[in-house]
Amino acid sequence: MISNAKLIECAKTYGTPLFIYDGSLMLERYFDLFKFIKNPNLKVHYALKANYNPALLTLLRDAGAGIDAVSPAEVKLALKLGFAPDRIIYTANNMTDAEFDRVMKTGVIINIGSLSRLKKCAKNYPGSRICLRFNPDVCDGDNKMTMTGGDLTKFGILLDAVEEVKKIVKSGDLHVVGLHEHTGSGLQHVESVLQSMRNLMAIATKENFPELEFMDFGGGFKVPYRPDEAKIDYVAMGKEIDALFNDFCKTYGRELIMRFEPGKYLSAECGTLITEVNTIKHNRTRTIAGCNAGFPQLIRPVLYDAYHHIVNLSNPDGALHTYDVCGNICETGDRFAEQRELPEIREYDLLAIGNAGAYCYSMGSVYNLRAMPSEVIVVDDKVVSVHQAQSEDELIDSVLARFAPEVAK
Ligand code: LLP
Repeated sequence: MISNAKLIECAKTYGTPLFIYDGSLMLERYFDLFKFIKNPNLKVHYALKANYNPALLTLLRDAGAGIDAVSPAEVKLALKLGFAPDRIIYTANNMTDAEFDRVMKTGVIINIGSLSRLKKCAKNYPGSRICLRFNPDVCDGDNKMTMTGGDLTKFGILLDAVEEVKKIVKSGDLHVVGLHEHTGSGLQHVESVLQSMRNLMAIATKENFPELEFMDFGGGFKVPYRPDEAKIDYVAMGKEIDALFNDFCKTYGRELIMRFEPGKYLSAECGTLITEVNTIKHNRTRTIAGCNAGFPQLIRPVLYDAYHHIVNLSNPDGALHTYDVCGNICETGDRFAEQRELPEIREYDLLAIGNAGAYCYSMGSVYNLRAMPSEVIVVDDKVVSVHQAQSEDELIDSVLARFAPEVAK
């Protein structure tokens, strides 16, 4: 964990708002997975959508990770950063023919999640090696927007369509080398992980899919967002996963690769967003701490009602008061926390918003024409990489260059 003193030092050096990532913690989380799940055939494919910072990706590449990519640009970024095509899986949903074609040409395996796309693949790309995404029929996740299993979601092929799948596969002489499922993000129950695995394994018979090389059980490993939140016993879960997979491989008759695709688990806790308070305002019933960042930089509280822990770096021992911690965007919902008890916040105090490493910068925007903040990567308590924010003029020029080149000088 990066110390509070280091966070303050970085904020002073690079300005705020600022994302700071602890690369050492990310690697620790990566290697932990191999301690929990002791299977020698385990491969971890990082869900790049969680955070595409190239310095973090490079650390993971050197550690041996693969990539779960969801757009042609994510595939291209991973390839440019030196991930070999066989370390990448492409799992877009509702992809276009052109996107499919572009990725096919890179040699990256495509994970097909609909009968419609499978038919097109059989017709236009006969003989291809593919992976098939099934809907595991298990509903779990940290909120209903991040649950991907079950009837109400758009993801994957239904398990009971397996006979139809086989016919299409045969018609195009396709080679199904992998099966995939992803249950949701922030899975609350270990049993959901295991049940989804069992459901996918039930159709992964040698009769149905004789050419399997890997089984991919998606991401979704939960991380605590609140300090007092119960933690998953990953050691116990890892043992159950390993036992389940070993039994499966025995029945299948061959050792297969076991893949997981965590995003949050690797990157959420390693990130912190530092923001400076510039306004304290007492409305009738609320005290508002107004910051120099807003939901374009960290949207999870507004979008999912997600809790992100906040620390007052500048006054950690102050008397507790209750605050609405608000951003600088012209919308009422622009809040990082509502009615949160925090040590007294004064103007110019620095606040550290925790678990800002996954789905924060990557879901960011320049709404209200404020550039996304700089990002700093710390490894072993040293800054190893800085991704400088666009300046105000660079941001404006990039807008003008596209829409009004005659105004851009
Ligand atoms: N694999 C697939 C196919 C996925 O769709 C996802 C996430 C993952 C792996 C990684 O899931 P993770 O380990 O990060 O939970 N923006 C939301 C999360 C959306 C997750 C989308 N898919 C949030 O901020 O909570």
